[in-house]
Amino acid sequence: MPMILVTGGAGYIGSHTVLQLLLAGYNVLAVDNFDNSSAVAISRVKELAGKLAKNFSFVELDLRNRAALEKVFTNQKFDAVIHFAGLKAVGESVQKPLLYFDNNLIGTIILFQVMVAHGCKKLVFSSSATVYGWPKEVPCTEEFPLSSTNPYGRTKLIIEEMCRDLYCADKNWKIILLRYFNPVGAHPSGFIGEDPRGIPNNLMPFVQQVAVGRLPSLTVFGNDYKTCDGTGVRDYIHVVDLAEGHIAALRKLDDPKIGCEVYNLGTGKGTSVLEMVKAFEQASGKKIPLAMGGRRPGDAEIVYASTKKAEKELNWKAKHDIDDMCRDQWNWASKNPYGYGRSGDSPK
Ligand code: NAD
Ligand code: UFG
Repeated sequence: MPMILVTGGAGYIGSHTVLQLLLAGYNVLAVDNFDNSSAVAISRVKELAGKLAKNFSFVELDLRNRAALEKVFTNQKFDAVIHFAGLKAVGESVQKPLLYFDNNLIGTIILFQVMVAHGCKKLVFSSSATVYGWPKEVPCTEEFPLSSTNPYGRTKLIIEEMCRDLYCADKNWKIILLRYFNPVGAHPSGFIGEDPRGIPNNLMPFVQQVAVGRLPSLTVFGNDYKTCDGTGVRDYIHVVDLAEGHIAALRKLDDPKIGCEVYNLGTGKGTSVLEMVKAFEQASGKKIPLAMGGRRPGDAEIVYASTKKAEKELNWKAKHDIDDMCRDQWNWASKNPYGYGRSGDSPK
């Protein structure tokens, strides 16, 4: 089976993808600097993978450490790279643009240079629906005009452009850019999940912390949008479906016709903040106290994906609905109210 390098493999989406890759029979080497993740995630992935954990290894490194990355590529030949590693907090990127450009852009450039030096030109990259900005219409198709409203989004746009330029210059590259919509939920075991540092920026990690009593209430950012109930609408996708989307993308990289292609990974369904909170309350049996607040700067009104291209060309479709996402989010939250901070429980 192919050997895959996963950057950012200890992170939320990375850890779930590493597990699905192992379960699908792939060999995986993951790297991460644990800037926004924990080594506990790696040991839990190994436990969940059981006997297949023998096909998994991990190296702690920062992608900007060229010598360390060179060493990894010298010791191991890779068939493809899945590149998750990056900083992702929109607000922080506005405060610290240079940190984001340094980490996300320099890290990616060094990765690509080392890949070229070692003859590995197959790549799956984590892009984001953020590149659609405030879409003029929905669903968002891959051909929509692209824009960015913050430094984080700009790093995604720049890396997308970098990938298109790489392919233009050298047709041996095979690149898939995956634009994720809103990944939520956790592995159904409740053993791995999202564990953001500090106060969460995103809706579901915040809701989860209210449910376990770590935060008092959820502030709803705007209830005067032109939506069913006035709150923002997004396309929430179960993280395990998203992980499976990466396996579909890896298979697609074997298509001789593939060059540099982009696919949305979403469900194609829009859900409002209040609908999401209600579904979570039902799944958890917990009441989520709400406070109505103003709109968050930079937030779009309605964003959801057209999933047609991914369904047709990747032969992939999200299977889980909002209730599944909330059930698995709560399972993770209730078993790990402090995320990976308090470990020791077992997956069985
Ligand atoms: P995450 O923060 O949980 O995972 C990213 C991982 O990369 C972390 O473990 C972090 O420690 C690591 N990392 C960061 N910089 C690094 C560096 N220089 N060297 C080595 N490791 C480094 O985030 P996630 O939610 O799993 O997101 C994964 C990718 O998907 C990111 O590129 C993110 O921008 C993108 N994305 C995420 C979302 C989302 O809502 N979660 C949406 C769209 C796109
Ligand atoms: N929201 C609240 N209160 C909160 C947090 C969020 O009401 O405390 C609302 C937002 O206003 C929005 C919805 O919940 O209407 C979802 O917000 P998230 O922050 O969870 O997600 P976004 O769609 O704003 O952004 C996320 C990532 C981006 C990524 C984008 C698309 O943060 O990096 O999804 O993938 F680009």
